[in-house]
Amino acid sequence: MAEPQPQPPTTELAATSLNPNENANEGQEQKVTPWEVEGAKGADGKAAAIDYDRLVEQFGTRRIDADLIKRFEDLTGVRAHPFLRRGLFFSHRDLASILDRFEKGKPFYLYTGRGPSSGSMHTGHMVPFLFCKYLQDAFHAPLVIQLTDDEKFLFKQELKLEEAHAFAIQNAKDIIAFGFNPDLTFMFSNLDYMGGGFYANVQKIAKCITYSQARAAFGFVDSDNIGKVHFASIQAAPSFSNTFPHIFGPKGDIPCLIPCAIDQDPYFRITRDVAVRLKYPKPALIHAQFFPALQGSGTKMSASKAETAIYITDTPNQIKKKINSHAFSGGGATAELHREFGGNPDVDVAFQWLKFFLEDDEELETIERTYRAGTLSTSELKKRCIEVVTAIVVDIQERRKGVTDELVRKFMDPTEKKIVQLKEPVGG
Ligand code: TYM
Ligand code: TRP
Repeated sequence: MAEPQPQPPTTELAATSLNPNENANEGQEQKVTPWEVEGAKGADGKAAAIDYDRLVEQFGTRRIDADLIKRFEDLTGVRAHPFLRRGLFFSHRDLASILDRFEKGKPFYLYTGRGPSSGSMHTGHMVPFLFCKYLQDAFHAPLVIQLTDDEKFLFKQELKLEEAHAFAIQNAKDIIAFGFNPDLTFMFSNLDYMGGGFYANVQKIAKCITYSQARAAFGFVDSDNIGKVHFASIQAAPSFSNTFPHIFGPKGDIPCLIPCAIDQDPYFRITRDVAVRLKYPKPALIHAQFFPALQGSGTKMSASKAETAIYITDTPNQIKKKINSHAFSGGGATAELHREFGGNPDVDVAFQWLKFFLEDDEELETIERTYRAGTLSTSELKKRCIEVVTAIVVDIQERRKGVTDELVRKFMDPTEKKIVQLKEPVGG
């Protein structure tokens, strides 16, 4: 049970200072905020890979360890996902209390989201959604998906409101193609769904966050529009079950588990502090590492930088070209040097992508070993990466073709949605 603990409301917030101006002179420490991900800068000015141990320490989260994974497997009877086995979902807050509820057959739900900044999602966005689909099946739990078209309108200067909304509906089709259970999933555009229990919670949350807290947490400046300052309340609200009266009725005490990449954690540190004050359960979290940009592990793949990303809409030919010409290589400088000294899979983007998307543990292990030894060449490694990524993207494209407007309505219409599963206890 997530019991409200008597603590000052700023405990988790204390770790939250994201003010980008704070470290302006240093330029050394890595930066991870909801809108910027960059590894620590070396003397050469290049960003090193993200140090995830350091993030766990800075953000005050917990590492996911072998015991927790074992307990998840024992309770659900489902083998741990490769993302868990390989430490790609690596950190959490209160995951054990969600497993306790599952064990007792008490309800909980999953919450995740997407900021529709472009018409197509990229392969990095697939990570939390693929994992949500897996968790939904393992727990048979309800899932809510927030599409923050309002956020993107406020944060992207040139984006029109109508465009952001249209992107949300486009992205909804991508997300449905991941195979979520329509009977257990409610997806909503903030622009369409705001009102009722949702707006009531947005207001209660807003009243708990002062301007100076928001500014300290997100680094706002005087020229920022006031919508940005308020937006944290809107991303927080779906963490509380009475935001969704058509699913949970008036009950505000059903906790949620939020799968996301760790860049979103600052929002939920604030949410967890506010939850205590509103006497709601704190949301639990499970955090992913970043799917690296083509250019390397010092940053995340980003939808607004086309050259860093592979989009769900890319053709097999585009995928091949991008990986062959842009994927940062950890291979030796020449074929001879590579054969003699081997390659470095730890910084090699093609290998890192295989770590996310190659199912077969044994093959992955062989690739890693032979690449290090120099018997597997960079072009062979890239070739395998291209095959695996292409197969995944083509599969999503095929399934997206089958996503009809009627199916979109089934996921997004609150008047139609009655989540069946809550009539019976979860688990068992
Ligand atoms: P957005 O659209 O920036 O990202 C959507 C989800 O994808 C994750 N993500 C990544 N994961 C792995 N590798 C990457 N390179 C990568 N890039 C993005 C993000 O962490 C996120 O989980 N404000 C949010 C939308 C939102 C949300 C939520 C996200 C609203 N409510 C609740 C998670 C949970 C946004 O703009 O996400
Ligand atoms: N990444 C967004 C952009 O394209 C900005 C953004 C997303 C953001 N989430 C945020 C900014 C949370 C501040 C707080 O500009």
